[in-house]
Formats: sequence, structure tokens, C-alpha cells
Amino acid sequence: MSEVNFNSKAFTYANNSLVQKSASEILLDLLSIQSEEDVLDLGCGPGHITKKIAQVTKGIVTGIDVSQGMIEQAVSSNQELPNLRYSVMDAENLELPINFDVIVCNSSFQWFQKPEQVLNRCFSVLKQGGRIGVQAPATQLYSPNFVAAIEKIRMHPYTREIFKYFKNPWFFLESKEEYEQLFRNCGFDVIYSELRDESNLFSIEEAYKIYQSGAENGYLNQSFYTVTLTDDYMNSFRELVKEAFKEQSDNSGMIDLKFKRIYIIAKKQ
Ligand SMILES: C[S@@+](CC[C@H](N)C(=O)[O-])C[C@H]1O[C@@H](n2cnc3c(N)ncnc32)[C@H](O)[C@@H]1O
Repeated sequence: MSEVNFNSKAFTYANNSLVQKSASEILLDLLSIQSEEDVLDLGCGPGHITKKIAQVTKGIVTGIDVSQGMIEQAVSSNQELPNLRYSVMDAENLELPINFDVIVCNSSFQWFQKPEQVLNRCFSVLKQGGRIGVQAPATQLYSPNFVAAIEKIRMHPYTREIFKYFKNPWFFLESKEEYEQLFRNCGFDVIYSELRDESNLFSIEEAYKIYQSGAENGYLNQSFYTVTLTDDYMNSFRELVKEAFKEQSDNSGMIDLKFKRIYIIAKKQ
């Protein structure tokens, strides 16, 4: 069972996840979902992207997420589309009554603790000829801005003692070839893959919201520490991240926020 807990982010995630949203547009373009296709959105969060998919196809669109809070948010904001359904489910134990033409997995793959098991489950719920598209931050330097902020945490006297006990929860590979191999190991034919360097200007406040919508769920999650997190630690951590973003900003208060992302489309032949 996954230890990832996005419940506390369920209300704010859709508004704060600016970079995940723009990356999803690239992923959906690459997948080019057709009007009758049945689609699974894996790790769908609060369903804002799932809803968009359900407006493109008349087929059945299913969103699954391990976080009950996210699924409650998705259900409450997406009631009007008859072809849309949601389930609380761990992708590692994916089991659904129908098979899909397309699986979309946007900004969730890095959270899977057993990515190979997830891909095997995806293979089994895809129709013959079906395709899967994954977009995720990639490489240990997945965001140079976040990595630099965390370096501050690692060194600072207020945070360094507890941070020693942080165990990175994310699944990152260092090259597109390694991602391709992972998909091939699970029976897929890779039809497209690219490791992109993306960069966009954001205000300090926006950058901090973006950080909170994803990375903070790892860095300030008790499940990924072997000592108890104190309020002081969490407050200092947040202040230091804000301080780091301030230092990274230019004269007009904007940050050039960089991400390395893998986009991969694979097919079940
Ligand atoms: C960063 S959010 C992405 C949400 C949405 N796909 C998007 O693009 O905005 C990651 C989501 O993955 C979910 N997640 C993490 N591990 C999971 C797992 N093992 N099974 C299902 N969902 C998972 C989290 O609960 C969270 O909602």
C-alpha cells in the first residue's frame, strides 16, 4: 500500500498545480485521444484533467487515486458528466471491470513505489493496441530550483539534524533510455519518449504554491522520516524554502522555474 498522502492538498491542488497542468496539455496532445475511446486517468488527483478528458471522448473515463480526499474532491466537482467515474484505488493493485484504449498518467508516476508493478497492472487493463502516456518529473535534478532550496535545508542549523532522517520517496530515472527499458520490461512497445528541459517564469508566491502542490508532500511527510517531525522543523523548513526562492528571483521578483520531465508513450501490441 502506498504511503503517499495527498489528502491535505485536495482542496488547493487544482489551483496550485500550474506546472502539472501545462505538462498535462503536452501529454494529452501526444496521446491524441479519439472520440469513442475508453480512458483511465491513473493518479487523477482532484479530477480537473480527468474532466477535460471526459469532454474529448464519449467513451467511459475512469479516474483512480489512492487518496480518498482527492477522489472526494473529484466527485464533488465533476458531477455533470455521465461518462465519468472515480474510484479510490492504489495503482499498484489496479483492478477494474473494463479494459481501456488509453491510460493517462500525469505527474503521478514519480510517486509510485513499485512502478514496474504498476506498469504490469496497466498492461493487463489495456485493450490490445491500447496505449499509455506518462509524464513525470525525472532525474535527481528534477527541478534545479527545488534541489537548491533543499540544499539550504540540508545545511541549515534549524533543519539539518532532522533532515538527515529524510528518505527520498520519489522514483526517478536518469535518462529516457532507462524509462524506455522499464516500459519494455513490462511488455510495452515504446512509440515516443523525450526527456525535456522546461522553464517558465513565476512569481515567488506562485513558485512556492507549485512547490507545495507536489514536492512538499514528500519533504514534509512523516512517512518518509524515521524520526518524528516537529512543528518547529516544519515551520523552519517552509521559511527556508521561501527564502531560497527569494534568493533565486530576479529584480522584478520572478523565478525561472526549471523542470526536467519525461514524456513517454507506449503501446500494447
Ligand atoms: C501530483 S498529483 C497529480 C494529479 C493529477 N494527475 C495531475 O496531473 O494534476 C499525484 C497524485 O498521485 C496520487 N498517487 C500517488 N501514489 C499513488 C498510487 N500508488 N496509486 C494511485 N494514486 C497515487 C496522489 O494521491 C496524487 O493525487
